[in-house]
Amino acid sequence: MTIPSDEADLFSDEARLDPYPIYDRLREAGPVVHLTRTDLYALTRYEDVRAALMDWRTFSSARSVFVDPQTNAQLEGITLCSDPPEHSLLRSVLGRPLRPELMRDIAPRVEAAADEIVGALVDRGRFDAATDLAEHLPMTIVSDLVGLGEAHRGKMLQWAAAIWDVQGPVNERFTAATPLVEEFLGFAAEEAVPGRIVPDGWADQLYQAADRGELPREKCPVMMLDYVTPSLDTTILAITNMIALFAAHPEQWTLLREDRSLVPHAINESLRVESPVPQFSRVLTEDHEVDGVPLAAGTRVALLYGAANRDPRKYPDPARFDITRRPSDQLAFGRGEHVCIGMNLARLEMSALLQRLADRVERFDVLAARPLLNNGLRGFEHLEVQVTAG
Ligand code: HEM
Repeated sequence: MTIPSDEADLFSDEARLDPYPIYDRLREAGPVVHLTRTDLYALTRYEDVRAALMDWRTFSSARSVFVDPQTNAQLEGITLCSDPPEHSLLRSVLGRPLRPELMRDIAPRVEAAADEIVGALVDRGRFDAATDLAEHLPMTIVSDLVGLGEAHRGKMLQWAAAIWDVQGPVNERFTAATPLVEEFLGFAAEEAVPGRIVPDGWADQLYQAADRGELPREKCPVMMLDYVTPSLDTTILAITNMIALFAAHPEQWTLLREDRSLVPHAINESLRVESPVPQFSRVLTEDHEVDGVPLAAGTRVALLYGAANRDPRKYPDPARFDITRRPSDQLAFGRGEHVCIGMNLARLEMSALLQRLADRVERFDVLAARPLLNNGLRGFEHLEVQVTAG
């Protein structure tokens, strides 16, 4: 069977701003499409992406999950880019502070902070949902918990965005991000070390695990990336996307205000319609057929979560934002062995803000929006909104 090929550049400005027509084209062309520019074999259909995520033995993360071969080689062995048994060890240490019972402990603090920020912004009437609202919890509570100290907090967002940019191919964004990534890696290795970071914070706990012999010490600086890189922008974008969707669909906001049991479903539905992390990749460890299409061992396969989440075979009328759809099986947090380790934290932050906003806001109107251009993420950099209190 011949595999269709496509010259789409998923990392061009145009495709970052609106990938959906490309996703639709690829999804209809066949179960697997060869993206010639990046030499990736794209899976776009829900069932195929889900099956790949559930089969780490065949779809391996150990040769990294990004695009550029050099970056992939450099990042082999971090949590995201490893397979069991190494992955299980790293993930068990990394996941300790993110356990559900610890999330329950921090919930009152998150809810109080959500209450305070929503109160202040609604009183103001007009604010930037990306910077004033969505950044607040990740940049205060989550950054405190990670515990890298105050000194470089202002730089964290820039550093994290740069790390996402180098997850694409070597384009202009990638090149511009490289010095910032080096700066961050330098900070992680030299400055964010025990004695200079918050005692018993999440970062410090990694070093404590290394001291107990549970983890090679040289893994600690890159494992800090696992707390910083995915805990800021992803959640910030997810919150901002949610506000944009409710502004565009006021009837859905009214539904949510009338029935708060819809909050978890609203979170899943907004992540489904607008997935902040649209893709990662895997490498095949053996010859394998995807939906009847044979692929050779060593093939790098792109898992397009953003396309799978809008597969009409799975979700009828997929572009429609409908919080009564209850799509708890959406793939924006991945699935299987590497399923997002921070999803309970992200859900806690999103839910606390939604609840408080539902108490206070009757409708959102978007005054101005600036989309984010980043190789690994999708969403808004700015979203100026006016709220009607009520
Ligand atoms: C709405 C917000 C978030 C989204 C959309 C998101 C998305 C994802 C996705 C798609 C994966 C799977 C990667 C793969 O398939 O290889 C993942 C893994 C991961 N996420 Fe998240 N994430 C979010 C929030 C967070 C937070 C708050 C943290 C940390 C506190 C976090 C930490 C991680 C880590 C460490 C992994 C790697 C897990 C592993 O490889 O076993 N994420 N995330």
